[in-house]
Amino acid sequence: MTASRCRWARVAAEPGLILAVVEETLRYDPSVPVWRRVTTRPVTIGGVDLPEGARLFLWLAAGGRDGAVFPEPDRFDLDRGNSGQHLAFGLGLHYRLGANLGRLETRLELEELARRYPEAAPGREPGVHLPPEHLVPRPAGAAGAHRRGTLTGGPAPEPGANSSPRDRAMRRILSGAGRR
Ligand code: HEM
Repeated sequence: MTASRCRWARVAAEPGLILAVVEETLRYDPSVPVWRRVTTRPVTIGGVDLPEGARLFLWLAAGGRDGAVFPEPDRFDLDRGNSGQHLAFGLGLHYRLGANLGRLETRLELEELARRYPEAAPGREPGVHLPPEHLVPRPAGAAGAHRRGTLTGGPAPEPGANSSPRDRAMRRILSGAGRR
């Protein structure tokens, strides 16, 4: 979303697009890219036979890049019309209970950001860069991305020191911690 100044300017000028921003972002870069499942009985999925008790690692994010559903899936496109067919909230019985709350929170945040910072522009690092008068000095070494006025992370992390919430979640999933 923040890779293009024109795109943000368009959204700031047309706040009605924010719902499309929310769905297209969930399709393009979902915050929960993978989820786990354990089969409760033998089953065949996509031609693959699975026994009972198989541990599955579902790439929900890949569903959002399915070219059969989303033409040019690697393009962030606010005009798709079917962005909401993503799997960012799962599917079926366990479809995320907080889906509409998550959508509402994100919409309200984006509406406020667009109102306050219509001129926000992409910078050299990923993330939104705000006008300097909105930034507060950060002590050297501070790692938080949540200080007032800054939306991008602090100093670049040490090489290999993946410490974002997503990286921590991935490490937890891969290590099997919290497995039901
Ligand atoms: C954008 C933010 C969020 C995303 C992308 C997200 C994504 C997900 C995903 C992928 C699942 C697994 C669904 C499945 O098993 O098929 C899930 C489960 C769940 N989420 Fe979230 N979540 C978000 C925020 C929230 C919020 C704000 C709440 C509650 C206020 C919430 C409550 C839950 C609950 C209770 C489940 C378990 C549902 C079940 O197993 O029946 N989530 N979420």
